[in-house]
Amino acid sequence: MIYLIRGGRPLAGEMTVQGSKNAALPALVATLVTDEEVRLVNIPRLRDVATLTTILRSLGKGVESTTAVSSQLSATVTATDAIRVFPLDREPSGKPPTEPVRAIRASFLVLGPLLARLGEAEVALPGGDAIGLRPVDLHLRGLQAMGAEISLQGGVVRAKATRLRPAEITLSYPSVGATEHLLMTATLIPGRTVIHNPAQEPEVGDLAGLLQQMGAGIRISSTQIEIEGRAALNGATYAVIPDRLCAGTFVIAAALTGGNVLVRCHPWHLRPLTGTLTSMGVQIHEQSEGIRVSPQSCRSYQAVKIETRPYPGFPTDMHPPIVPLLSLTPGESRVRETVFEDRFAYAPELRRMGADLDVWGQTVILRGVRALRGAEVRARRDNRAGVALVLAGLAAEGTTIVHDEEDHILRGHSDLAGTLRELGAEISTEPCVQQAHDRGVH
Ligand code: UD1
Repeated sequence: MIYLIRGGRPLAGEMTVQGSKNAALPALVATLVTDEEVRLVNIPRLRDVATLTTILRSLGKGVESTTAVSSQLSATVTATDAIRVFPLDREPSGKPPTEPVRAIRASFLVLGPLLARLGEAEVALPGGDAIGLRPVDLHLRGLQAMGAEISLQGGVVRAKATRLRPAEITLSYPSVGATEHLLMTATLIPGRTVIHNPAQEPEVGDLAGLLQQMGAGIRISSTQIEIEGRAALNGATYAVIPDRLCAGTFVIAAALTGGNVLVRCHPWHLRPLTGTLTSMGVQIHEQSEGIRVSPQSCRSYQAVKIETRPYPGFPTDMHPPIVPLLSLTPGESRVRETVFEDRFAYAPELRRMGADLDVWGQTVILRGVRALRGAEVRARRDNRAGVALVLAGLAAEGTTIVHDEEDHILRGHSDLAGTLRELGAEISTEPCVQQAHDRGVH
């Protein structure tokens, strides 16, 4: 997709964010821990969700989705799906196909649940955004502590266990994926498993909520998750939380354009971001239904130093989107990335738009400029880096063209351009020439 943006229009209005991708993906995997039907509501319409439903089908599940919000509604209410996952009358498989598994990292989470159900499973090492090494050692060490025998051959992980056992697991780093993986697996191991130093991201709590509804005993504190597993779990109906990362993107877009926007979401999930924005002087008001950003010029904001951290620290996914805002904030700002090694794909592109920035090791140093100027730029590697370029285009003078040949932006936002347009932005999209060619359009 190509995004064409004429900058300089303040955003105005109200919008409702899509359901959380990072909550929806593990919730879909969690349907593997039961033989009963699970109905998931508020699932965003994204390619990664479709890929995961393909994987579930290959493992013996039936999957049906229905659109929950009619397309006649305004684009500021993003269409979401309700997805019904139910057992089929055939032997479940413990070997998902390699290609879709490699396409998304969350697919690796199927390993533990399949192992717990079937006694063995084989899953390819995962893919996802190319933002660093992203190993799965913490996932595997946790499964080993539960009694799994693990071997790795040709990029495929094989796990075996006649019977998994409850365990006390201490994560050396609070990995989101490892916490979710071990949490789901532990719900199927009768007895008490404890995960120390777990990730505290809201999506982990959301997954725990679904598993509790399915009958698992789960107690969460900031230092540990205690799981009372059971031999079998029941079905459930569950609505996933609004996407705090999409919500944060729109909050930043409003602040960047001097806009006046109400972003409907769970405001408390965004406090690590809104705390930073407030310290910069952005006018943010937390309301029961969401976050309101009031109009102000970037020239009145103050520079900040940010370090990305696991929740409740500043989210790594908000690092690229906040950089255009810092580019226009007077003074010197810094963002140090501590979660992923390679999150700076936006940097050379933003420089083309006039941003004054340098990347030193894991830190980007920005000196605020008076204006960004429209340019032709490329979304590379990372979903959030692509989003950062669109946001920069909203604030830039003139026209910005963002080439996103691999549709990185669509991985996280089902309709970023449509929602921004509803809020008054001048933005349109076109298929890339290569994509049009692939579809036979010349
Ligand atoms: C999830 C989110 C992603 C978000 C990230 C951090 C999903 C689908 N994705 O990714 O959007 O940016 O959390 O909030 O929910 N690590 C290891 N060994 C492991 C696992 C992780 O070293 O076994 C490292 C990773 O390489 C990375 C860091 O830990 O440097 C954080 O990764 P993790 O928290 O696991 O993120 P994901 O679950 O991949």
